[in-house]
Amino acid sequence: MKALLGIDLGTSATKTVLFDEQLRPLASASSEYPLHQPHNGWAEQDPQDWWKAAVETVNAVLQKSGVAAGDIAAVGISGQMHGLVMLDADGEVLRPSIIWCDQRTAAECVEITNLVGAGRMIEITANPALTGFTASKIMWVKKHQPEIYAKCRHILLPKDYLRYKLTGEFATEVSDASGMQLLDVPKRRWSEEVLTKLDIDPSLLAKVYESPEITGTVSGEAARATGLSVKTVVVGGAGDNAAAAVGTGVVTDGKAFTTIGTSGVVFAHTDNVTIDPQGRVHTFCCAVPGAWHVMGVTQAAGLSLKWFREQSCMDLNYRQIDDLAMAVPIGARRLLYLPYLMGERTPHLDADCRGVFFGLSGMHTRPDMLRAVMEGVAYSLRDCVEVLRGMGVQTSEMLACGGGGTSALWRQMLADLFNCDVRTATSQEGPALGVAILAGVGAGLFKSVPDACAELLRFNDPQPPVAANAKEYETYYGIYKTLYPALKENFAKLAAV
Ligand code: XUL
Repeated sequence: MKALLGIDLGTSATKTVLFDEQLRPLASASSEYPLHQPHNGWAEQDPQDWWKAAVETVNAVLQKSGVAAGDIAAVGISGQMHGLVMLDADGEVLRPSIIWCDQRTAAECVEITNLVGAGRMIEITANPALTGFTASKIMWVKKHQPEIYAKCRHILLPKDYLRYKLTGEFATEVSDASGMQLLDVPKRRWSEEVLTKLDIDPSLLAKVYESPEITGTVSGEAARATGLSVKTVVVGGAGDNAAAAVGTGVVTDGKAFTTIGTSGVVFAHTDNVTIDPQGRVHTFCCAVPGAWHVMGVTQAAGLSLKWFREQSCMDLNYRQIDDLAMAVPIGARRLLYLPYLMGERTPHLDADCRGVFFGLSGMHTRPDMLRAVMEGVAYSLRDCVEVLRGMGVQTSEMLACGGGGTSALWRQMLADLFNCDVRTATSQEGPALGVAILAGVGAGLFKSVPDACAELLRFNDPQPPVAANAKEYETYYGIYKTLYPALKENFAKLAAV
């Protein structure tokens, strides 16, 4: 028997799952780490914490499953996108990673746009300069911590740091590299033009592979730390969303998924490059060689509920939260929530906006607020769907995944607001499963990514929209949409205080 290992470096935890050749999970383990927010809008994590969690969870799945290390054919790594990891000449971490939801780089985005040109930026990187993406974080360190930048010899994404620790190789792959804003997304290689205009030395960047390609082999040192074998290969893997797409079978035209993890994403596969000229959604290379995807992002999706729970409901688990919110009528008794805790991407591209409860009354209770938070996230995901539909991107089949995707209530909100069936895959492993499939393709166990998905993935019955709910939600969504434009100027004023 050959086994496949998927490691998913999330924002709140790393989850590692070992699968057999039929993609049945044999063992899984996860390990959490903190998110540091030293200033309003900043978000950092320690790469050492990620490696520690990877070592812990790989050891745990080997032990739990009893599978011999030599039987693991390949490893795939998935992870939170966009984070900046800087290493010195000895491969040591120079500063905490500035991660995807950090919003400190508005000034650098203006600078990047001036240097590259707004139109060229979208033509080459398929996105306007964005605070969440890696390029502006690099420019921030260059400007504010020049002594650190001077020592930097390698720039990596979070999951590619794990690859370096596992194999000693400096490598990345197209799906995650797309989120650095240094890649020519249509051509799937680093953009000399952007690198020259931003004065970033190309030698700092890792070699770019397609997602299922082999990028290296587990090193002796990593084998001692993790229990893996030095014969096991590590494939490119994918950014968490591209990996979730593979894990839910969203690998051909017309298929789409919505994930509610820390962030929320509506993701649609496209065989051709499709770019929103207004930059409200991202176009990235996907993990299927030669294809792309378009996705809209809600910055604080699961994070909104996690935040609210941590502030006021630590006595409740998510199941109980679901039950309480389910008992509240649609519209949360006239209470709306804007999920902009960490600024927002789709459709507003605004680093300054922040969360809002709108319509609070003395009669509102904790369950009303919980329901409002869940609905606010669903309205924001509907915003993403609106942009994709406006671009003519097909979303005829919608899968749901991520922690929030396990909530029947949240899935029903999506079905009602998107007005389409929402299904889940029978496997809940999402990104870890996706990169295990990529690992299987790299190791030659499967012919191609779409083949493996068609043959081995299974799905639950669809949850259809309820017409009466859809009608009611439409009224509240209509009001929700008017709130951001009404508050836009005030968000900017508050941020400037
Ligand atoms: C995507 C994005 C997030 C992160 C964290 O552009 O920023 O989805 O990958 O999950």
